[in-house]
Amino acid sequence: MSTTTLSLKSLKENQQKFSCITAYDATFAKLACDAGIDVLLVGDSLGMVLQGQSSTLPVSMDDMIYHTQCVSRGASKPLIMADMPFNSLNSIESALDNAGKLMQAGAHIVKLEGSEWLAEYTSALSDRGIPVCAHLGLTPQSVNKLGGYRVQGKEAEKANLMINTAKELAEAGADMILLECVPTSLAELITQKVKVPVIGIGAGNVTDGQVLVMHDLLGVSSGHKPKFVKNFMAEANSISDAFVKYDSAVKSGEFPSADYSFSG
Ligand code: KIV
Repeated sequence: MSTTTLSLKSLKENQQKFSCITAYDATFAKLACDAGIDVLLVGDSLGMVLQGQSSTLPVSMDDMIYHTQCVSRGASKPLIMADMPFNSLNSIESALDNAGKLMQAGAHIVKLEGSEWLAEYTSALSDRGIPVCAHLGLTPQSVNKLGGYRVQGKEAEKANLMINTAKELAEAGADMILLECVPTSLAELITQKVKVPVIGIGAGNVTDGQVLVMHDLLGVSSGHKPKFVKNFMAEANSISDAFVKYDSAVKSGEFPSADYSFSG
């Protein structure tokens, strides 16, 4: 059965976890699909892991469309989520136009990075039948504003703002929230307070779903290794086996343990 935003919501209601990895091409998308991964994220992380850029900022709409098409040809069952890249949300009109192109390329939901200001974009897209995942916490497209890749929401005031933003975005029509690099206690509060599924990366094992960048999961990334990254290839005998092991560790709640999470 194919994964949909509704099936993910019902997993949340039944307190069952779901898995997500990034995918950028048809071959890996098929392997992930066959391993039982529920959601494939065509992330703008492709700028770093495929293109060798030093951030996600140079990724274009054309890049995102191309890779979304490739993933969509390889995967029949997972929900395909595509990132709206930097510079694609400059007005409601440009957001509608760009999100429409990703949906035509095969995405089932688009992911927007930002904060409170995403509310009007979320409701405009959602009103026109385009599901939205709102990415909060560490938003890599804002790395220059954030001053680096740092844990977000550690201070009470910022944590409260993130909780309220998540609630507002869910009310504005977001079908999913993604939290990156936030303390586990904050991720737990947000997951309890919103009815839509919450996916975490560096947010502890308290969220409804987990995502990892595929290259990190397979241990082939270079450079700094964030605390939340686990190499599932280390104990696997094939890429498919690593995907299966990740899927089952996420669904049992075994991953991410405290060693791969941030405390308050
Ligand atoms: O682009 C990406 O891969 C992402 C994940 C890190 C969540 O946004």
